[in-house]
Amino acid sequence: GLENSPRTFKPVFKPIQPSTKDDIVLPEGFTYDVIAVYGDKINENGDTFGFNADFNAFLPIDGSSEHGLLWTNHEYCGELEYYVNGYDTLNADPANNRRTPAQIEKYLYALGGSVTEIKKVNGKWTLVADSQYGRRVTGLTRISLTGPAAGSSAMSGAKQVVGTFANCSGGITLWNTILSCEENYQDVVDDCKLPDASHYGWIVEVDPFDPKSTPKKHTALGRFSHENTAMVLADSGQLVIYMGDDANDQYVYKYVSKGKYNPNAGKNNSRLLEDGTLYVADFSKGKWLALDYERSEKLQTAKDENGQPLFTSQADVLVNCREASKALGGTPMDRPEDVEVHPIDRTIFISMTNNAKHGNFYGQIVRLLEKGNDHAGEEFTFEIFATGGPQSGFAAPDNLAFDSAGNLWVVTDISSGSMNSGIYESFGNNGVFFLPTSGQDKGHVAQFASAPVGAEMTGPWFTPDEKTLFLSVQHPGENLTVYDQPTSHWPKGGKQMPLPGVVAIRGF
Ligand code: FEO
Ligand code: CA
Ligand code: CA
Ligand code: CA
Repeated sequence: GLENSPRTFKPVFKPIQPSTKDDIVLPEGFTYDVIAVYGDKINENGDTFGFNADFNAFLPIDGSSEHGLLWTNHEYCGELEYYVNGYDTLNADPANNRRTPAQIEKYLYALGGSVTEIKKVNGKWTLVADSQYGRRVTGLTRISLTGPAAGSSAMSGAKQVVGTFANCSGGITLWNTILSCEENYQDVVDDCKLPDASHYGWIVEVDPFDPKSTPKKHTALGRFSHENTAMVLADSGQLVIYMGDDANDQYVYKYVSKGKYNPNAGKNNSRLLEDGTLYVADFSKGKWLALDYERSEKLQTAKDENGQPLFTSQADVLVNCREASKALGGTPMDRPEDVEVHPIDRTIFISMTNNAKHGNFYGQIVRLLEKGNDHAGEEFTFEIFATGGPQSGFAAPDNLAFDSAGNLWVVTDISSGSMNSGIYESFGNNGVFFLPTSGQDKGHVAQFASAPVGAEMTGPWFTPDEKTLFLSVQHPGENLTVYDQPTSHWPKGGKQMPLPGVVAIRGF
């Protein structure tokens, strides 16, 4: 959570060994409940839980750690689309997309996010299937645009768009709403033959406590393959959001609101996400470079290969953030994924998953230190905090979560095509790792969990009492699946087909 919590959390567990078992393997004394899998009913209308679960955020009801709303992102269908649209789509010629309109509708409905109401009953986490809060936000939901690019010519005058998808990771706001991040939207745009890609690649704000609210895409936060958000309040009172663009040689960003946070204004603070400065990181000089058309001669004079101006307005800069960052001299990074702010010293931790192009196969976790700990400032230093590899025991760090004592919980994302073979063989399936940031074990990982075959554990999130850790099981059986003989049977076992979903880990 963003609020201060007591620093009493001392997880005690005997680390597990890397595993290739088709289950969630946990240390002795820990267990898991399956909360929801694809297709589960989440409200009275019969809406159902989406596909390939990713980011989770738990928002307590009446401060409870045993009853609340869970937001879950649904990222993509990919080759597992046959769960959504049947086996016929597997035989479709990808170059000649043969999905019917009904199949496209099911595909888009499976993506976006779910609000579920969950509670502990007799010690076990369960889904409230007829919840009044249960809601789907999907690739078909109407979403309004805010900020400089809304209604601009860069977006063909659009003030609202249809749908959100490719929702990877995200974050929460200080006013208890969700920020869900659109990452690899181009795959979905292509699969579903959607007309305007500029409508996607944004950050979407959803209010889970108001099922009738219209979600908002905040264009001031820029458009790229958004992985996540990490919100922190600067000493000045301005809101700061750190963000990664998960692709080889893309950038780290931060947004600084123009106005100041007002703790009494509740959801009206959302307006702070409509007007502010977006920065890209220059790691070589330790500078945040403002992606501000009015302030930057570089942006005003940047030309394409035909000698035409690349940008004519701030809206152009926001819609084409990657080009603007390149023109300004931002530092291309090795797939910046999750970013989290340390709850005690407020330094910034960033996963660099890997970048095979540079021979960086195992990734790192970078720690960024703002000058004078001023999150709204324009200068920083950094260090490599931890490095993946066979010696350190983890590879391809992705989502991060801090506990209240400042320990990192790191999930890994070795792609399902590389897992358990070649240079990744010793790591087994993807996992969850415990990484202290202080004390004698600082920088040394201990493995806490191992994922089912082909899967990635995503979206780690603790309840406020830190007795439950939520995690998604994304794409079990991916890439390794032979249709009639799946290599994963999680979670039902036997000869059942695998299903992506969300679990609650207990035993802390
Ligand atoms: Fe969707 Fe960056 O992982
Ligand atoms: Ca991710
Ligand atoms: Ca995170
Ligand atoms: Ca990833």
